[in-house]
Amino acid sequence: MTGVNRGLDGVAVAETRLSTMDGEAGELIIGGFPVEELADDATFEETLYLLFHDRLPDAGELSEFRTDLAARREIGDEVLAVLQRAADEEKPAMDALRMGAAAANLGVDGDDPESDALRVVATFPTIVAAYWRYREGNEPIAPDPDLRHAANYLYMLTGERPEESAVRGLETYLNAVVDHGLNASTFTARVVVSTESDVVSAATAAVGTLKGPLHGGAPGPVLDMLKSVHASDDPEAYVREKLEADERLMGFGHRIYRVRDPRAAVLESAAEQFYDDDDDFFETITEFEDVAVELLAEYKPDRDLETNVEFYTAALLHGVGVPQELFPATFGVSRVGGWMAHALEQLEDNRLIRPESRYTGDRNRSWTPVDER
Ligand code: SDX
Repeated sequence: MTGVNRGLDGVAVAETRLSTMDGEAGELIIGGFPVEELADDATFEETLYLLFHDRLPDAGELSEFRTDLAARREIGDEVLAVLQRAADEEKPAMDALRMGAAAANLGVDGDDPESDALRVVATFPTIVAAYWRYREGNEPIAPDPDLRHAANYLYMLTGERPEESAVRGLETYLNAVVDHGLNASTFTARVVVSTESDVVSAATAAVGTLKGPLHGGAPGPVLDMLKSVHASDDPEAYVREKLEADERLMGFGHRIYRVRDPRAAVLESAAEQFYDDDDDFFETITEFEDVAVELLAEYKPDRDLETNVEFYTAALLHGVGVPQELFPATFGVSRVGGWMAHALEQLEDNRLIRPESRYTGDRNRSWTPVDER
């Protein structure tokens, strides 16, 4: 019996063409492109097409794909009712997303997984935006088929046509985080379809996984941390207090990267344009990063705790104007593209994913009726 590997560290359970990371060199390749090559230039539809078809579309293919995806965005009144209830009860956005995704695709039978996958990707922004409109006491805004995916998401949140700079900033984020090997939520999606269940079940299970603060739940607390340090102007005191209390510093550390997450640089440069100099908030952000990395090395010298993707995610999404409560759900709006591509890959060459466990309980117990216990 092999040893128990609690976190599956270093265990490969699938072959994939979708993405790969070099944790020592700090490199991420998505669909064959270094993330730096893809993030700033691609529209999110081009990145999705790349994941689904292993190449970038030509102009005609892109136009057709964009139109097809846009045609799948609508959600019905029964889904809106679920989202209104979640908003009225102030349920977390990730719970609303999970319930909305299920309600929007009830009874999917899995006969056409690629079509189901596109429908799931197309509806995520509609679900998140409708929930948020209800949370703010407004009526949802219907999707606009003439807007591309990222622009339509921002439009459905506010009712206004977004600035191109905000759309570009959001697309850089969506492209950078769309896929990242077998992270916990993507692994969840693969486990679900490995039983030959459907891609909608895979997406809703993956949302539940992404919700956790160790995974997709980190950027919100990062922004709180940055606002608090911007007010105190003392990053060192803040970080020391956290580390003395043996608390996790959100936005730092990673299971794979032993150096700075390559996405941090991409998101940092995309975020800077949204901060003007006079309130020096961006200066606070970059100074905090330097202090945090230095003190993490001091307190945890045996670990390479560097900046991960969530640190500058907070700066970029805040700069673009995404509400802080929607940071994890916006991560889901992107990563659902990766989850669906991995699910389709798993279905192509499926093997039930079923690890073992080591039994540590008693053996050979004998039964006693309750009145004799
Ligand atoms: C994402 O897997 C992916 O690819 C995820 C992701 C993706 O694209 O899908 O990259 C997105 O999830 C980024 C991570 C977002 N989460 C956070 O920023 C939360 C803070 N980070 C940590 O909780 C932690 O670094 C993890 C969860 C990200 C990784 O944890 P590991 O690899 O399982 O490391 P560990 O929990 O075993 O920690 C090892 C040691 C521990 O110290 P000891 O208990 O051994 O003394 O390092 C310490 C930890 O306490 N440590 C930290 C720390 N991260 C690890 N200490 C302080 N602050 C931190 N951030």
